Amino acid sequence: MSAEYVLELRHMSKSFPGVKALDDVSIQVRPGSVHALMGENGAGKSTLMKCLFGIYAPDEGEILLDGKPVKFQNSRQALDGGVSMIHQELLSVPNRSVEENLWLGRYPLMGAGPFRLIDAKKMRSDTKALFKKLNMDIDPAVWLRNLSVSKIQSIEIAKAVSYNAKVIIMDEPTSSLTEHEVAHLFGIIRRLRSEGAAIVYISHKMEEILEIADEVSIMRDGRHVGTWRSSELTTAEIIKRMVGRDLTHRFPPRANVPGEVVLRVDNFTSAERHSFKDVSFDLRRGEILGIGGLVGAKRTELVETIFGLRFLESGRISLNGREIKIRSPVQAMGDKFALLTEERRATGIVPMLGVKENMLLANLSRYVGRTGLINEKQGISDTKEKIADLRIKTPSYRTLIKDLSGGNQQKVLFAKWLLTEPDILILDEPTRGIDVGAKYEIYSIIAELAASGKSIIMISSEMPELLGMSDRIMVMCAGRKTGILDGKTATQEEIMRLAALFE
Ligand SMILES: Nc1ncnc2c1ncn2[C@@H]1O[C@H](COP(=O)(O)OP(=O)(O)OP(=O)(O)O)[C@@H](O)[C@H]1O
Ligand SMILES: [Mg+2]
Repeated sequence: MSAEYVLELRHMSKSFPGVKALDDVSIQVRPGSVHALMGENGAGKSTLMKCLFGIYAPDEGEILLDGKPVKFQNSRQALDGGVSMIHQELLSVPNRSVEENLWLGRYPLMGAGPFRLIDAKKMRSDTKALFKKLNMDIDPAVWLRNLSVSKIQSIEIAKAVSYNAKVIIMDEPTSSLTEHEVAHLFGIIRRLRSEGAAIVYISHKMEEILEIADEVSIMRDGRHVGTWRSSELTTAEIIKRMVGRDLTHRFPPRANVPGEVVLRVDNFTSAERHSFKDVSFDLRRGEILGIGGLVGAKRTELVETIFGLRFLESGRISLNGREIKIRSPVQAMGDKFALLTEERRATGIVPMLGVKENMLLANLSRYVGRTGLINEKQGISDTKEKIADLRIKTPSYRTLIKDLSGGNQQKVLFAKWLLTEPDILILDEPTRGIDVGAKYEIYSIIAELAASGKSIIMISSEMPELLGMSDRIMVMCAGRKTGILDGKTATQEEIMRLAALFE
């Protein structure tokens, strides 16, 4: 007898110190379907999936696979039981090859007894076969740390698929993928679905959900709000059910007109090969300058060079009409630059430190008094203020940042850079992984900063965000500036054309 549902989660509850992350959640998933899981940051989506995948033990509840109760003690057992998962945060090992990452913990072996060796030949041919099946073009031998975030995410996808699981959990799989790669992933998902697999798909991107999902379950504050067929839903309805109120505007009004030029970048050329070349632009007081382009346009490299993290071959930069040389991030911070990086796990957060420490990190000197002692009180009150301002969902300022939901970690990083009171704030994909409600909050903060005379450079791969927020939009392709557009009149098509000019 085959069950109607391949997966049933019944009355799942889970508490962490200070939060009830899951409160009596019941969700059923049909085989051969894509089941989206949506909800604001901290709603409990990842926690629910981690309970299923054997990472957390639920306090209460029951999990049925094909109608049979299961209890996975760890992810190994979940994989053996037919459940695989793409994690929201990349867990891969940078100093190992693509193929080692793929087969980690389950290398093909040869020989017998205690003297079994890794069968490198088989590993290579298995890898090639997998990539061929998925239509991916990645060198199995290259070290992971030499790959872009989007390639690494593709490998995570290949890995999850390679287990031939009947339930595949994808926790924000497209957060770092290019549009082209998203289309490719959707091809893979459709094939898996037609082969009978169930995909639990977590994403904050409405357009994606409505395109790929058959059913949508919405969570709010650890509770299950309901499940609907995606054909019955509109973006506005999803938002309303997620947030619990109507959200009429996706972007705040912009109050100010940019003033005089504060930053000039002239003919910036990277010291690295295959990076950006001959890029010039200026930035005005109170301006939001968007930078658009496809992944691989070298936008991140450009801003990291401005911030002193990478080397320049040639070019000049001047601040308020005076030429400056930035050789390190410390120097950049001294010149009142701040950079919010794109990949929080790799370059942003310190997982084992608390929310407060992570927030004050870029800023410690401010809290050291004349006595050389840290002004603990000031630090705590600033942290609390930012937690409230940005509505960061955390039980306390002492909570370890690794225990916050992905979107809330991003907000802490944002707060950290705000505390340095920068004049020029560089944001690299500032709302990646952030839910619609919180996005609006972050947009409002950005707009307020601009209105108060700060200048903002914002890299974004989200068209609506670029168009909705920028005074001007610089578009890059393959390391070159391909155009600069007026934010008021620019169109999505125009940006796309400039972003793919040399493709
Ligand atoms: N290991 C943990 N220890 C303590 N609290 C945790 C832990 N994991 C999650 N939480 C808390 O549980 C709640 C739900 O978090 P979860 O990561 O499931 O949210 P989410 O819906 O996946 O959000 P996002 O969209 O930001 O990824 C949050 O308040 C989070 O801070
Ligand atoms: Mg999550």
